[in-house]
Amino acid sequence: MRRPLVAGNWKMFMTSAEARLLVSEMLPGLTAIQDVEIVICPPFTSILPVAAMLEGTQISVGAQNMYWEASGAYTGEISPAMLAEYCKYVIIGHSERRAYFGETDAGVNRKVKAALEHDLVPIMCVGETLEENESGKTEAIVSRQVREGLGGVEIDSIPMVVIAYEPVWAIGTGRAATADGANQVIAGIIRRVLGEMFSLSLAQEVRALYGGSVKASNAGEFFNQPDIDGALVGGASLKINEFVPIVRAAAS
Ligand code: PGA
Repeated sequence: MRRPLVAGNWKMFMTSAEARLLVSEMLPGLTAIQDVEIVICPPFTSILPVAAMLEGTQISVGAQNMYWEASGAYTGEISPAMLAEYCKYVIIGHSERRAYFGETDAGVNRKVKAALEHDLVPIMCVGETLEENESGKTEAIVSRQVREGLGGVEIDSIPMVVIAYEPVWAIGTGRAATADGANQVIAGIIRRVLGEMFSLSLAQEVRALYGGSVKASNAGEFFNQPDIDGALVGGASLKINEFVPIVRAAAS
């Protein structure tokens, strides 16, 4: 049984004062929900205050990115060891990082391995752009991202990995994928490639999320799909009246 997981990706929003306010407003609603792993991924500057507020709850903290080296002269970077003091999860290879910050599949692979070495759960993002989708390249792109992102990862670590299928054309656009279409990519491409790389049973064990314009009004459709185990939520994770019902939908 794959445990449902809903992660909120706050992106570059929220000062730490704003973050504390938002968490204090969401906590009563979120802590009342059982049987869902809940993760909040604030910007680096809010990780400490948010982690302090979530201590003793069932809600975990995640980071939105990290560097792969454990320490060193890498001005401006954050290491997995630093994150591991406060975080349980880390988002790796989000499409915004791939598009604006030059992240490659090879870099994603190093980061996934580094996260696992430090007991951080990587939420590895994959997904095709609109152009790739319209030219029929979804399968080629997503399977390459999974293969290269997880290449050489220790087989024992694979059950810990979370994969988020986030079609780039659905992120922040209000135009979500159809639930059935997302399920087909996860079952027919992501789990199939995992099966080829590792084993069929591991392919069934890995949790796969959908991300891209998930809202309270459409979350249930995704969670009803057999291969979708939760969501990576951007914009709606900043709104109490959206995020709490999304998490609740994952529980039912
Ligand atoms: P969105 O973003 O929910 O605002 O579309 C999702 C994401 O980028 O993870």
